[in-house]
Amino acid sequence: MGEKLLEIKDLVVRFSGVTAVDRLSLSLEKGRAYGLIGTNGAGKSTVVNIVSGNLRATEGRIAYQGNDITGKKAHELARLGIARTFQNLRLFHSDTVLGNVVTARQIAHPYSLLHALLASPKFRAQERRIREESRELLRQLKIGELEQLPAASLAYGQQRRLEIARCLALDPGLLLLDEPAAGMNPAESRQLVEDIQRIRKERPDMTILLIEHDMKVVRSFCEYVFVMSQGKLIEEGGPEIITTSKRVISAYMGGESVAASQESAC
Ligand SMILES: Nc1ncnc2c1ncn2[C@@H]1O[C@H](COP(=O)(O)OP(=O)(O)OP(=O)(O)O)[C@@H](O)[C@H]1O
Ligand SMILES: [Mg+2]
Repeated sequence: MGEKLLEIKDLVVRFSGVTAVDRLSLSLEKGRAYGLIGTNGAGKSTVVNIVSGNLRATEGRIAYQGNDITGKKAHELARLGIARTFQNLRLFHSDTVLGNVVTARQIAHPYSLLHALLASPKFRAQERRIREESRELLRQLKIGELEQLPAASLAYGQQRRLEIARCLALDPGLLLLDEPAAGMNPAESRQLVEDIQRIRKERPDMTILLIEHDMKVVRSFCEYVFVMSQGKLIEEGGPEIITTSKRVISAYMGGESVAASQESAC
């Protein structure tokens, strides 16, 4: 057993009349790559919204690095190292590409107010370092040459990459990716997943939870998979459960295997 990073215990999330998450418990270990899958409306994004502090749980507890984080706000959790992308992009559109990443990095490495007010050499050196590190992240996501453009002017796939760079700027211990390749064409999507794989190798301590509908991606990227259906965790295990678990198959198809259905849909 590895070191436990996140523990969700008996999580319930209700919206008026809808139980989006229904007594879900799961735990993540440090440095591993997890998948969270399930059909539309299963509750996947809601789980991520709770863990990242973008939504409040109705019931249940969440611990991160052994500390109770239930009810903490998104900015507090970002500072603790929980970063997330959104299924529907959220960037500072009028800011530049570089500015988007620098702002995130300043959250992870806050200035002392006094040094900032005095514009001391220490402050200026830190500011320079933050810009350099932010540039490096943009290069890793292959959008380095776009740093001076307004975020809004980027193509959709590039905006998705910027969102990930912004997450990485927080030096996250936990990176939550909610359909990071949604809306991309297959080639763009494959390239993005390869780039995330490469970045992951450079950050062996970072844990990733990936929400993804493409089962080929899930099988190649994730070491362990959680499956939700109607708010409940119905299965967990190695990626082979996607094709071998009766519960998973019936949740998706009522019989047909998930992989077969995806292949026939291609
Ligand atoms: N803010 C909200 N207000 C009311 N109902 C919501 C809200 N957010 C989610 N829901 C409902 O909760 C359920 C779970 O939604 P969620 O977005 O978590 O599903 P999902 O697994 O991410 O689906 P998808 O694969 O389509 O993104 C759905 O029935 C959804 O309509
Ligand atoms: Mg979702």
